[in-house]
Amino acid sequence: MQESDFGAARTILQIAFGTFLGVPDLSSFAADKDYIATRWRANPEAALMAEAEGVRAGSNFATNWGSFGFFGPLTVKPEFWNRGVAQSLLGATMDLFEKWGVREAGLFTFAQSPRHVHLYQKFGFWPRFLTAIMEKSVGERSEGEPLKYSSLKESEKREALEACRVVTDAIFEGLDVTREIRSVEDQQLGDTVLLWNGDTLDAFAVCHCGEGTEAGAGCCYVKFAAVKPGANAERVLEQLLTACEALGAERDLTRMEAGVNLGRSRAYRSMLEQGFRTAIQGVAMQRGDLPGFNRPDVLVVDDWR
Ligand SMILES: CC(C)(COP(=O)(O)OP(=O)(O)OC[C@H]1O[C@@H](n2cnc3c(N)ncnc32)[C@H](O)[C@@H]1OP(=O)(O)O)[C@@H](O)C(=O)NCCC(=O)NCCS
Repeated sequence: MQESDFGAARTILQIAFGTFLGVPDLSSFAADKDYIATRWRANPEAALMAEAEGVRAGSNFATNWGSFGFFGPLTVKPEFWNRGVAQSLLGATMDLFEKWGVREAGLFTFAQSPRHVHLYQKFGFWPRFLTAIMEKSVGERSEGEPLKYSSLKESEKREALEACRVVTDAIFEGLDVTREIRSVEDQQLGDTVLLWNGDTLDAFAVCHCGEGTEAGAGCCYVKFAAVKPGANAERVLEQLLTACEALGAERDLTRMEAGVNLGRSRAYRSMLEQGFRTAIQGVAMQRGDLPGFNRPDVLVVDDWR
């Protein structure tokens, strides 16, 4: 994908999802969100555009989180559906995963769609647990000002990035969301909230805030949050999501959105107890029969959309 493709890619995304979901005004679909320019800027080589019969026909985005990769949003212009465009994009996506050397890979899709499940199974992905996209309104439960990555000095930022890597590596060897943290900072999409316990980082959360990001108008979206494994992890997750909510309140946002795989049953239950309710449910499909980091003991909040 080139920058000159952004407009076409946005239109295709709106028409494709809008048509599949039966949205009456296609141009209104996710009009306040941006996945195209933001993901391209995060990693241009991972943004793929398909051409068919001389026109732009579809796109897909791969995400490199170290030892783990996922892809989406994958969208194809409806007049090209069922003509193999998605499969050619997915072939190129699998080549990227191979080049990056990801150990495991996954995606989020519509659980009720046999067509989607069939398509991804052709590339070795199998349906596993549901993923709940949860929400709650931004409330009063703030515990003071959250510590934000954007407020740190350069040397402290380097330390924080290394500490975040230590947390994710302890959860799933090689898992690394540095690119996500940097992309939010460089593109001013939101902020990363950090919870330190002395010299040790207990937890962190990468948040998108408001219009023109993956969150959308009025929303604080927790794109990736992780708690260091250990005792009191649920308590730390609660403190972390409270800090995210404080970030949302600081920015005058009214709604929190955060996804969790139901295989991470402790995280899911904790979020329910904190007042999150499921807005949408999809299914996570994963390569092989491995759970990856969708395990009961893992306190990670993300949804692979
Ligand atoms: C999902 C989407 C990307 C697929 O794109 P596409 O270019 O039509 O896909 P392809 O033609 O490469 O492959 C579709 C496959 O599904 C099969 N299929 C179609 N309807 C099916 C059904 N009801 N049940 C099972 N398989 C079905 C096709 O036959 C084809 O498989 P085959 O090659 O083995 O025959 C496209 O429909 C789209 O943009 N949808 C809206 C956005 C969306 O849902 N994105 C994905 C979000 S996870």
